[in-house]
Amino acid sequence: MPNACTQNATVPRGGIGMSFLDLARRRQSDRGYSDRKVERDQLERCLEAARVAPSACNSQPWFFVVVDNPEVRTAIAECLHDLVMNRFAVTAPVLVAVVAERPALLPRLGGLIKGKPYYLMDIGMAVENFCLQAADEGLGSCIIGWFDEPGVKALLGIPRTKRVPLVIALGYPQEAAIRPKVRKGYAETWAYNHYPGKQ
Ligand SMILES: Cc1cc2nc3c(=O)[nH]c(=O)nc-3n(C[C@H](O)[C@H](O)[C@H](O)COP(=O)(O)O)c2cc1C
Repeated sequence: MPNACTQNATVPRGGIGMSFLDLARRRQSDRGYSDRKVERDQLERCLEAARVAPSACNSQPWFFVVVDNPEVRTAIAECLHDLVMNRFAVTAPVLVAVVAERPALLPRLGGLIKGKPYYLMDIGMAVENFCLQAADEGLGSCIIGWFDEPGVKALLGIPRTKRVPLVIALGYPQEAAIRPKVRKGYAETWAYNHYPGKQ
Protein backbone atom coordinates (compact mmCIF):
# COMPACT_ATOMS: atom_id res chain seq x y z
CA MET A 1 0.00 0.00 0.00
CA PRO A 2 1.20 3.56 -0.62
CA ASN A 3 3.08 5.20 2.24
CA ALA A 4 0.65 8.13 2.28
CA CYS A 5 -2.14 5.76 3.27
CA THR A 6 -0.63 4.06 6.30
CA GLN A 7 -3.80 2.84 7.96
CA ASN A 8 -4.67 4.12 11.43
CA ALA A 9 -1.64 6.40 11.52
CA THR A 10 -1.39 8.37 14.76
CA VAL A 11 -2.23 12.01 14.15
CA PRO A 12 -1.63 14.98 16.45
CA ARG A 13 -4.60 17.24 17.19
CA GLY A 14 -2.93 20.39 15.95
CA GLY A 15 0.02 21.31 13.85
CA ILE A 16 1.32 23.83 11.40
CA GLY A 17 1.66 22.75 7.80
CA MET A 18 -0.54 19.71 8.24
CA SER A 19 -1.43 17.93 5.00
CA PHE A 20 -5.04 17.54 3.94
CA LEU A 21 -4.80 13.81 4.59
CA ASP A 22 -3.66 14.45 8.16
CA LEU A 23 -6.51 16.91 8.60
CA ALA A 24 -9.02 14.33 7.34
CA ARG A 25 -7.61 11.84 9.83
CA ARG A 26 -7.67 14.37 12.64
CA ARG A 27 -11.37 15.07 12.26
CA GLN A 28 -13.28 12.81 14.58
CA SER A 29 -16.57 12.78 16.42
CA ASP A 30 -15.91 14.41 19.78
CA ARG A 31 -18.54 13.57 22.36
CA GLY A 32 -17.68 15.86 25.26
CA TYR A 33 -16.56 19.50 25.31
CA SER A 34 -14.88 21.91 27.69
CA ASP A 35 -16.55 25.25 28.42
CA ARG A 36 -13.80 27.18 26.56
CA LYS A 37 -15.43 29.74 24.30
CA VAL A 38 -15.49 29.23 20.56
CA GLU A 39 -14.74 32.58 18.94
CA ARG A 40 -17.12 33.84 16.29
CA ASP A 41 -14.33 34.22 13.72
CA GLN A 42 -13.46 30.52 14.14
CA LEU A 43 -17.12 29.63 13.81
CA GLU A 44 -17.46 31.80 10.72
CA ARG A 45 -14.49 30.14 9.04
CA CYS A 46 -16.27 26.80 9.56
CA LEU A 47 -19.45 28.29 8.08
CA GLU A 48 -17.46 29.69 5.15
CA ALA A 49 -15.98 26.25 4.48
CA ALA A 50 -19.54 24.90 4.40
CA ARG A 51 -20.75 27.75 2.18
CA VAL A 52 -18.20 26.99 -0.55
CA ALA A 53 -19.01 23.26 -0.66
CA PRO A 54 -20.10 21.76 -3.97
CA SER A 55 -23.76 20.93 -4.65
CA ALA A 56 -25.76 19.47 -7.53
CA CYS A 57 -26.32 22.28 -10.10
CA ASN A 58 -24.81 24.61 -7.48
CA SER A 59 -28.18 24.54 -5.76
CA GLN A 60 -26.73 25.12 -2.22
CA PRO A 61 -29.79 23.65 -0.49
CA TRP A 62 -28.73 24.51 3.06
CA PHE A 63 -29.08 27.07 5.81
CA PHE A 64 -27.21 27.02 9.12
CA VAL A 65 -28.83 28.22 12.33
CA VAL A 66 -26.00 28.78 14.79
CA VAL A 67 -27.00 28.43 18.42
CA ASP A 68 -24.55 29.93 20.90
CA ASN A 69 -26.99 31.59 23.29
CA PRO A 70 -26.73 29.45 26.46
CA GLU A 71 -30.48 29.27 27.11
CA VAL A 72 -31.44 28.38 23.56
CA ARG A 73 -28.54 25.95 23.39
CA THR A 74 -29.61 24.11 26.52
CA ALA A 75 -33.15 23.84 25.16
CA ILE A 76 -31.85 22.50 21.83
CA ALA A 77 -29.55 20.03 23.62
CA GLU A 78 -32.66 18.64 25.35
CA CYS A 79 -34.01 17.74 21.89
CA LEU A 80 -30.77 16.08 20.84
CA HIS A 81 -30.52 13.38 23.46
CA ASP A 82 -32.59 10.50 24.67
CA LEU A 83 -31.74 7.83 27.24
CA VAL A 84 -29.09 6.28 25.02
CA MET A 85 -27.93 8.73 22.38
CA ASN A 86 -26.24 12.11 22.39
CA ARG A 87 -26.17 12.88 26.10
CA PHE A 88 -22.90 14.76 25.46
CA ALA A 89 -24.76 17.40 23.43
CA VAL A 90 -25.43 19.48 26.53
CA THR A 91 -21.68 20.12 26.90
CA ALA A 92 -21.28 21.66 23.43
CA PRO A 93 -20.83 25.46 23.54
CA VAL A 94 -22.17 25.73 19.99
CA LEU A 95 -24.85 23.75 18.19
CA VAL A 96 -25.57 24.30 14.52
CA ALA A 97 -28.90 23.18 13.05
CA VAL A 98 -28.60 22.41 9.35
CA VAL A 99 -31.81 23.27 7.52
CA ALA A 100 -32.50 21.63 4.14
CA GLU A 101 -33.64 24.40 1.82
CA ARG A 102 -35.73 23.61 -1.25
CA PRO A 103 -33.26 22.67 -4.01
CA ALA A 104 -33.44 24.42 -7.39
CA LEU A 105 -35.82 22.87 -9.94
CA LEU A 106 -33.12 21.13 -12.01
CA PRO A 107 -31.48 19.11 -9.22
CA ARG A 108 -34.92 18.41 -7.77
CA LEU A 109 -36.12 16.95 -11.07
CA GLY A 110 -32.78 15.24 -11.64
CA GLY A 111 -32.98 13.71 -8.19
CA LEU A 112 -36.47 12.40 -8.89
CA ILE A 113 -35.56 10.98 -12.32
CA LYS A 114 -32.38 9.32 -11.09
CA GLY A 115 -33.81 8.32 -7.72
CA LYS A 116 -31.02 10.11 -5.83
CA PRO A 117 -31.64 12.68 -3.10
CA TYR A 118 -28.92 15.05 -4.29
CA TYR A 119 -29.82 17.62 -1.65
CA LEU A 120 -28.82 15.24 1.15
CA MET A 121 -25.48 14.57 -0.52
CA ASP A 122 -24.98 18.34 -0.87
CA ILE A 123 -25.70 18.85 2.80
CA GLY A 124 -23.34 16.03 3.74
CA MET A 125 -20.56 17.73 1.82
CA ALA A 126 -21.17 21.12 3.39
CA VAL A 127 -21.28 19.57 6.86
CA GLU A 128 -18.04 17.67 6.27
CA ASN A 129 -16.34 20.88 5.07
CA PHE A 130 -17.56 22.54 8.28
CA CYS A 131 -16.16 19.75 10.44
CA LEU A 132 -12.82 19.67 8.61
CA GLN A 133 -12.40 23.41 9.11
CA ALA A 134 -13.30 22.89 12.79
CA ALA A 135 -10.53 20.27 13.01
CA ASP A 136 -8.13 22.72 11.38
CA GLU A 137 -9.05 25.28 14.07
CA GLY A 138 -8.22 22.76 16.81
CA LEU A 139 -11.93 22.42 17.57
CA GLY A 140 -13.91 19.23 17.99
CA SER A 141 -17.22 18.49 16.33
CA CYS A 142 -19.84 15.79 16.11
CA ILE A 143 -22.44 15.37 13.40
CA ILE A 144 -25.77 14.46 15.01
CA GLY A 145 -28.51 12.82 13.00
CA TRP A 146 -30.60 11.21 15.74
CA PHE A 147 -32.73 13.84 17.49
CA ASP A 148 -36.19 15.26 18.02
CA GLU A 149 -36.48 17.21 14.77
CA PRO A 150 -39.92 18.78 15.43
CA GLY A 151 -38.62 20.01 18.79
CA VAL A 152 -35.54 21.64 17.23
CA LYS A 153 -37.67 23.28 14.53
CA ALA A 154 -40.15 24.65 17.05
CA LEU A 155 -37.40 26.14 19.25
CA LEU A 156 -35.59 27.80 16.35
CA GLY A 157 -38.62 29.04 14.42
CA ILE A 158 -37.88 26.77 11.46
CA PRO A 159 -41.06 26.17 9.41
CA ARG A 160 -42.61 22.75 9.92
CA THR A 161 -42.46 22.12 6.16
CA LYS A 162 -38.65 22.18 6.19
CA ARG A 163 -36.37 19.32 7.23
CA VAL A 164 -33.41 19.52 9.61
CA PRO A 165 -31.33 16.48 8.61
CA LEU A 166 -28.42 17.20 10.94
CA VAL A 167 -27.20 19.21 13.90
CA ILE A 168 -23.47 19.81 14.42
CA ALA A 169 -22.01 20.00 17.92
CA LEU A 170 -18.92 22.19 18.12
CA GLY A 171 -16.45 23.11 20.83
CA TYR A 172 -13.07 22.44 22.36
CA PRO A 173 -12.98 18.72 23.07
CA GLN A 174 -12.59 17.40 26.60
CA GLU A 175 -10.29 14.66 25.32
CA ALA A 176 -7.10 15.85 23.64
CA ALA A 177 -6.31 12.50 22.01
CA ILE A 178 -7.12 11.60 18.44
CA ARG A 179 -8.49 8.05 18.40
CA PRO A 180 -7.30 5.54 15.82
CA LYS A 181 -9.90 5.34 13.07
CA VAL A 182 -12.17 2.30 13.05
CA ARG A 183 -12.61 1.71 9.35
CA LYS A 184 -12.95 -1.07 6.79
CA GLY A 185 -9.61 -2.19 5.33
CA TYR A 186 -8.35 -1.16 1.91
CA ALA A 187 -9.54 -4.29 0.10
CA GLU A 188 -13.11 -3.66 1.34
CA THR A 189 -12.94 -0.01 0.37
CA TRP A 190 -11.59 0.28 -3.15
CA ALA A 191 -10.47 -1.62 -6.24
CA TYR A 192 -8.96 -0.57 -9.53
CA ASN A 193 -10.78 -1.06 -12.81
CA HIS A 194 -13.31 -3.68 -11.68
CA TYR A 195 -15.71 -4.29 -8.83
CA PRO A 196 -14.42 -7.21 -6.76
CA GLY A 197 -15.98 -10.62 -7.30
CA LYS A 198 -17.05 -12.35 -10.50
CA GLN A 199 -14.98 -11.37 -13.53
C1 LIG B 1 -25.18 11.41 8.94
C2 LIG B 1 -24.50 11.17 10.26
C3 LIG B 1 -25.24 11.09 11.42
C4 LIG B 1 -24.62 10.89 12.66
N1 LIG B 1 -25.38 10.90 13.80
C5 LIG B 1 -24.75 10.77 15.00
C6 LIG B 1 -25.49 10.87 16.21
O1 LIG B 1 -26.72 11.10 16.23
N2 LIG B 1 -24.81 10.73 17.39
C7 LIG B 1 -23.45 10.51 17.43
O2 LIG B 1 -22.91 10.42 18.54
N3 LIG B 1 -22.73 10.42 16.29
C8 LIG B 1 -23.33 10.55 15.09
N4 LIG B 1 -22.60 10.51 13.93
C9 LIG B 1 -21.14 10.31 14.01
C10 LIG B 1 -20.72 8.90 13.57
O3 LIG B 1 -21.10 7.97 14.55
C11 LIG B 1 -19.19 8.90 13.33
O4 LIG B 1 -18.88 9.78 12.29
C12 LIG B 1 -18.65 7.52 12.97
O5 LIG B 1 -18.85 6.61 14.03
C13 LIG B 1 -17.16 7.57 12.65
O6 LIG B 1 -16.42 8.09 13.74
P1 LIG B 1 -15.56 9.42 13.62
O7 LIG B 1 -16.46 10.51 13.18
O8 LIG B 1 -15.03 9.64 15.00
O9 LIG B 1 -14.46 9.17 12.62
C14 LIG B 1 -23.21 10.72 12.71
C15 LIG B 1 -22.45 10.81 11.53
C16 LIG B 1 -23.08 11.05 10.33
C17 LIG B 1 -22.23 11.19 9.08
